[in-house]
Formats: sequence, structure tokens, C-alpha cells
Amino acid sequence: MRYLIFSDIHGNLEALKAVLEDAKKKKIDHYLFLGDLVGYGASPNEVIQTVLSLKKLTMVRGNHDKAVCGLDSVQTFNPVAAAAIQWTRKALLRKHLNLLTGLAKSPVVVHNQITICHGAPFDEDYYIFGEFDAVEAFSYFETQVCFFGHTHFPFIFVEKDETVEGNLIEGNHFEIKLERGARYLINPGSVGQPRDRNPKAAYAIFDTETRKIKFCRVEYDIKEAQRKILEASLPTALAERLSTGI
Ligand SMILES: [Fe+2]
Repeated sequence: MRYLIFSDIHGNLEALKAVLEDAKKKKIDHYLFLGDLVGYGASPNEVIQTVLSLKKLTMVRGNHDKAVCGLDSVQTFNPVAAAAIQWTRKALLRKHLNLLTGLAKSPVVVHNQITICHGAPFDEDYYIFGEFDAVEAFSYFETQVCFFGHTHFPFIFVEKDETVEGNLIEGNHFEIKLERGARYLINPGSVGQPRDRNPKAAYAIFDTETRKIKFCRVEYDIKEAQRKILEASLPTALAERLSTGI
């Protein structure tokens, strides 16, 4: 079974299309989406429609998905993010707002072997940034692997012999093979708004037969995504940051 794991698209259709095109050759059986379909980018309806066309698909909600459909307030959002939430709420088709409202709360266990969540397995809105957070997170899931998003950094934490070690995934290609006796907390990075100073769209593939997880980065039409953000009169900072990946 081959899973494609992706997160934090944030209304960036160009980045999503590039990821799906790149993954076409890789024979994906099941798509696992970790939340934040919308917010920041200018193509929320097109992104939702494209993700819904994927078969087979399991997804959970992100904090932006919740805020857009009114399940959460924007009080914890910075002014730029809050402005994008208001814009997205107006731009979304009713059926897409309804879809966001009905998205599953994480964590969700897939096929008894993978846990997925947006922030952390104990709190969908929590940011796992360091080993201290990861230690806590490992005690909240039972599968060998848990995929999480929310921070927009491709990252891997390994729990082995009662110690936890974390590493940022650098470069455009990286692969690990799961070891027996170890457990993993893995962030595939963000499709639509990477923040690790690499502007390329990020995703991961888990092949359960080879026990390998590949981290992938792919170039996309950043200029077009920026043009749409500016044309929509969304905050200019949201366009600018895409070029630098911050
Ligand atoms: Fe996000």
C-alpha cells in the first residue's frame, strides 16, 4: 500500500497541482490529508474540489478550516491570517463551507497502522516544534507512525530505546526506512506555504511494503499563485513569503 501524505495547502492551487502531478508516476493507493485546505491562498474552492476528486482520501480538519466555517474564532490568528480567513469565508461556495464544517477532528487512525492529526495527537491545534512536545505526543498514539502538520516544517521525531530525537528534513529528497522497535512522528511539510526557507511544495510518500517514507519537494508556479493573491486583494505579505519559503 502506498500512501501520499500532504498537509497545509492553504488555498494554493498551483502548489497542489504540482504535487499531484509529481506523484502521478508513484501509483498512490490512498491520500492522507492532515488539515488546512484553506486560508492564505486565493483558490480555496478549486483546492477543495481538487482534493475531493482524489480516491481514496482520508482527511482531518486544520485550524484555518475551523476558523473559516466559524467553528473557531480568529482571536488567536495574527491580523494577516485573520484577514485571509474573512476573505476566504466570503469567497467559498456554500457547499464547500459545509464540507469544512463536517471535516473530522483529529487524531484519526487509518487501517490500524497510521495515526494522522493536524497539530498533535492530544490537541489538534497544538504545535509540535521540539522534542519536549514530541515526547508528550508519543504517549497519545499507539501505531508505529503518526503524521502531523500545522508547523509547515518537514520534520521527523524518532522514539527508540526510551529516547526521542528530532531532525528537520533538509534538501529536496530524503528517505528513511522504518526500524522495528522504533516509533515515528512525521511532518511532511506544507504544500502551499512552506516555512523552512525552501519555497518548493512539500509532501511525503509512505510505502508500507518497503517500510520506507520519502520526503519530496517540487517546484510550482509561484508567480501565478502570487498573482492571484494580489488580484484578490489579500495581504501582499502572503504573496511575498511564497518566494522565500518563510
Ligand atoms: Fe497551516
